[in-house]
Amino acid sequence: MQVAEASTPKPTLPDAQTVTSVRHWTDSLFSFRISRPASLRFRSGEFVMIGLPGDNGKPILRAYSIASPNWDDELEFYSIKVPDGPLTSRLQHIQPGDQVILRPKPVGTLVLDALLPGKRLWFLATGTGLAPFASLMRDPETFERYEQVVMMHTCRTADELTYGRELVENLKHDPLLGELYGADFAKRLLYYPTTTREDSPLMGRITDNLQSGKVNADLNLPPITPETDRAMICGSLAFNTDVKKVLEGFGLHEGANSEPREFVVEKAFVGDGV
Ligand code: FAD
Ligand code: A2P
Repeated sequence: MQVAEASTPKPTLPDAQTVTSVRHWTDSLFSFRISRPASLRFRSGEFVMIGLPGDNGKPILRAYSIASPNWDDELEFYSIKVPDGPLTSRLQHIQPGDQVILRPKPVGTLVLDALLPGKRLWFLATGTGLAPFASLMRDPETFERYEQVVMMHTCRTADELTYGRELVENLKHDPLLGELYGADFAKRLLYYPTTTREDSPLMGRITDNLQSGKVNADLNLPPITPETDRAMICGSLAFNTDVKKVLEGFGLHEGANSEPREFVVEKAFVGDGV
């Protein structure tokens, strides 16, 4: 794993921020941090447009979930590397001190305000769909609103889980959450990482583990009900559609900022032809 860090020189492009650190997790995944404009306010779970200047002078911008919580001085992002992707084929080479364009207009449905109050909140993600939950898991407000949070993250292989695994591990030693919940925090945040194409301690698709009740049995949780359980979904379109069906089978309904209900959905990326 490579880590690079630098002090923060002032950006010179309009709407640009300075890269402060970059970390490569696998051949196809990296995370990076940039300076945060003092005026930028966002709700944990929201996304912004970020990018790089294009060859024709027009910026190449893409939607990115902010992976850092809203109290953080910097902004963190967790990114795929698409080999021929217009943005990420270049973005993957950024170094501390480089500039990244940030359009500071945060939006999104994966926010606490879009859900009715409840007892237990499920974060359901595949791949880089973890990013909005990396923000929400680090926000004390999540734990003020819910007694328990269950983070289910599924990838094909175990190395793709490393960013999320390390983040959850670090939260156990987080001074803010540690001070608020102490040793109890391990019972407040339950982590359920699974793989589907490589052996690991926990296996299987999120849909199957929810439908069969395996995750409830493994974590000693009661069945999902609309009275107690809330959920946020972030993955490919196919994943989102299938998880939605499973949750609807438990009697939960999709909500939105304008009409809070029992679960909300957001695409982790727009697939080919979607
Ligand atoms: P693109 O031309 O944008 O994509 C090329 C192809 O690569 C796509 O058709 C798709 O098949 C695949 N692809 C793109 N992104 C992903 C991905 N994340 N995982 C798996 N396959 C992908 N991407 C992130 O890496 N991190 C984020 O936090 C993130 N948040 C997003 C939030 C929203 C609301 C949306 C709509 C997208 C988000 N994306 C995120 C995807 C991101 O906008 C870009 O698609 C991605 O950075 C690739 O850009 P590109 O120009 O290199 O390739
Ligand atoms: P699987 O390996 O069984 O296809 P991808 O890289 O294709 O986006 O998949 C990321 C993870 O999401 C994989 O573990 C994959 O499982 C899982 N996944 C993909 N599509 C779905 C779906 N429709 N429902 C549940 N899990 C899915």
